[in-house]
Amino acid sequence: MNRVEQIKRTFLKELEEVDTLQGLEDLRVRAFGKKGELTLLMKELGQKTPEERRTWGAELNALKDVLTTALEARKEILEEGCLKDQLASESLDVTLPPHARPRGKIHPLSHVLDQAIHIFGQMGFVVAEGPDIEEDFYNFTALNIPREHPARQEQDTFYLPSSNGQPLVLRTHTSPVQIRTMQKNPPPIRIIAPGRAYRSDYDATHAPMFHQIEGLVVDKHTHMGHLKGCLEEFCRLFFENPSLKLRFRPGYFPFTEPSAEVDISWKGESWLEILGCGMVHPNVLRNCDIDPTTYQGFAFGMGLDRIAMLKYGIEDLRLFFDSDLRWLNHYGFAPEARE
Ligand code: DAH
Repeated sequence: MNRVEQIKRTFLKELEEVDTLQGLEDLRVRAFGKKGELTLLMKELGQKTPEERRTWGAELNALKDVLTTALEARKEILEEGCLKDQLASESLDVTLPPHARPRGKIHPLSHVLDQAIHIFGQMGFVVAEGPDIEEDFYNFTALNIPREHPARQEQDTFYLPSSNGQPLVLRTHTSPVQIRTMQKNPPPIRIIAPGRAYRSDYDATHAPMFHQIEGLVVDKHTHMGHLKGCLEEFCRLFFENPSLKLRFRPGYFPFTEPSAEVDISWKGESWLEILGCGMVHPNVLRNCDIDPTTYQGFAFGMGLDRIAMLKYGIEDLRLFFDSDLRWLNHYGFAPEARE
């Protein structure tokens, strides 16, 4: 057996036995390294006659190809095994209880949202949602705010490029969810729709993005007394004051008739406005194919940031959105306290 054949046999045999990547690398060096067996044979070629060089050269090249391919194949197998071992050793049992208590805090807004959902949930309201990027139709027209209506100018709307001929806006309130809900579900309806709203406005009590909770009840005998009772109950539970006084002032919203603005008495000293509400305007019911001679509804829209600021004595709304960890640590809630 010539040397080439011998090298090939031993190499391939050892290759089969090697079971670590390091062992494989050692083997590669023994064949192809500076002083590797194959390298030395290649060097010897120079001293051969041209005739010998031709046959030997071809043989050596063939050997080189065989060894390289075999090395590569073995490497792939070993690497795959390595990965499997690694994955097995690093596997994580996600069902185990945590070692450490969570360190994050619940943002006051999330906390207030949870509380509101909890309170309204107990009254039988379910949560509904709608998109932040809203069609002009849902944000305005269907809510009895036709084009050229002054209420459109009052809202400092962010307009977006239209899509498929539909004018789009960032919703200026959560009221469009009323329309989407009524179009989808027949009465009786009892929903709240918490979410973001957007207006081009910026100072200590206004941010371009803020939060509202919309409420809508539609049934055959819904009346203003239900509206008052529902909101009184909510405010007393939310502000944890069973004798909290509410003041309903006449107001104007195109989508409700009659409309009211609601204030709560604050520390016995002043009145603070917290929401708008009213009986759903017959035009709005009609826009959703609900017969206003059979059904009546009430609706309300409340600033979530506003009631959070009042409850927790936060004076600047913009702080909610600054992501300042020092602020969050102070005003945030421990996860355990979450209702
Ligand atoms: N959408 C009104 C606003 O953003 C708030 C509002 C008022 C909502 C009366 C209502 C409502 O559902 O009945 O100012």
